[in-house]
Amino acid sequence: MEIKKIKWGILSTGWIAHKFARALQAVEGSEIYAVGSRTMESAQKFSVEFNIPKAYGSYDELVSDPDIDVIYIATPHNLHVENTLLALDHNKHVLCEKPLGVNLKEATTLIERAKEKNLFLMEAMWSRFLPNIMKTKELIDSCEIGDVKLLTATFSVLSDNGPEHRHYNIDLCGGSLLDIGIYNIFLSLLLLGEPKKITAMAGLDKQGGDNTCSCTFQYEKDTLAVMHSSLLGGAPVIAEIYGTKAKISLEHFWFCPGNVQLTYRDGSERIFDFKYKSNGYDYEAEEVVSCIRAGKKQSDLWSWDNSLQLVNQLDLIRKECGIVYPQHDL
Ligand SMILES: NC(=O)c1ccc[n+]([C@@H]2O[C@H](COP(=O)([O-])OP(=O)(O)OC[C@H]3O[C@@H](n4cnc5c(N)ncnc54)[C@H](OP(=O)(O)O)[C@@H]3O)[C@@H](O)[C@H]2O)c1
Repeated sequence: MEIKKIKWGILSTGWIAHKFARALQAVEGSEIYAVGSRTMESAQKFSVEFNIPKAYGSYDELVSDPDIDVIYIATPHNLHVENTLLALDHNKHVLCEKPLGVNLKEATTLIERAKEKNLFLMEAMWSRFLPNIMKTKELIDSCEIGDVKLLTATFSVLSDNGPEHRHYNIDLCGGSLLDIGIYNIFLSLLLLGEPKKITAMAGLDKQGGDNTCSCTFQYEKDTLAVMHSSLLGGAPVIAEIYGTKAKISLEHFWFCPGNVQLTYRDGSERIFDFKYKSNGYDYEAEEVVSCIRAGKKQSDLWSWDNSLQLVNQLDLIRKECGIVYPQHDL
């Protein structure tokens, strides 16, 4: 008997929506059924590019389509709460781009609504599902590198977009922390858990967003995580974890598909290489499809609690640095 395909609706047609749609084409048991945009022109263009049967010129029309099972939200940060509530209230499961909400209050609201509606909801923390990150977690959990003493993670890009762009626009909850620094914080949370102490410092622009942000987390047993994000370029995108027996190095652009290198204290090395069938976003989509089929409301690998812990840490960093989103935090 043929299993019914999970039908996706893609909400918005920007950069990541394109990447995700490309990956979805490689995911078995699912179909990109519809796309919705603020403009019909953009929805139609996107639907032609990915051979999508339905195109809608508004998000309302998209979520009202009774044949869609799950909506992928790919709008700027400030809209995640509004767009996710819209989809849940139309009885759709949701995969929402990171961060799930721009603060703990918003993320909690979304999770509570998913619970009330008995629907699946997950933050699109795609790196969690990549083989290189899964392997790194396995190596840490099995104490292959001994006691972890230091995690370093940096994520820096040179964004030459203007102040209106979502990278910088404070009304869209721009800034490096929520856009890219979130990956560093995700990695430390996944591998080391909750810190005992957080210190942070940021360079703020005229709008009050963080162009650049550095933080240090302290854990038990003299273990530190030192992390940095920036929209001004100048730093590599690396992650390394140092233990008493060995070090793990993730390949450059560590949050993307790549390999993992293990270097022991005697200098010997092991490299874990992985075969990727698409651009990496297929792994999170496969997790969504498998959870929905199993009737689950959240993922075991990236749970509601994980998203809440992550956004809580972002809140603490923002408080320390004085980063405020006036339309959301006050
Ligand atoms: N997982 C990843 O690797 C990754 C990478 C990049 C970004 N992201 C996340 O994905 C989300 C979107 O990022 P992006 O780079 O795709 O952004 P983008 O290229 O600017 O696209 C955002 C889309 O949102 C819609 N939108 C609705 N209201 C808008 C407004 N006021 N201003 C601008 N766009 C608006 C637009 O689509 P329509 O006109 O079609 O409605 C726009 O194309 C963010 O949450 C970001 O953190 C994730």
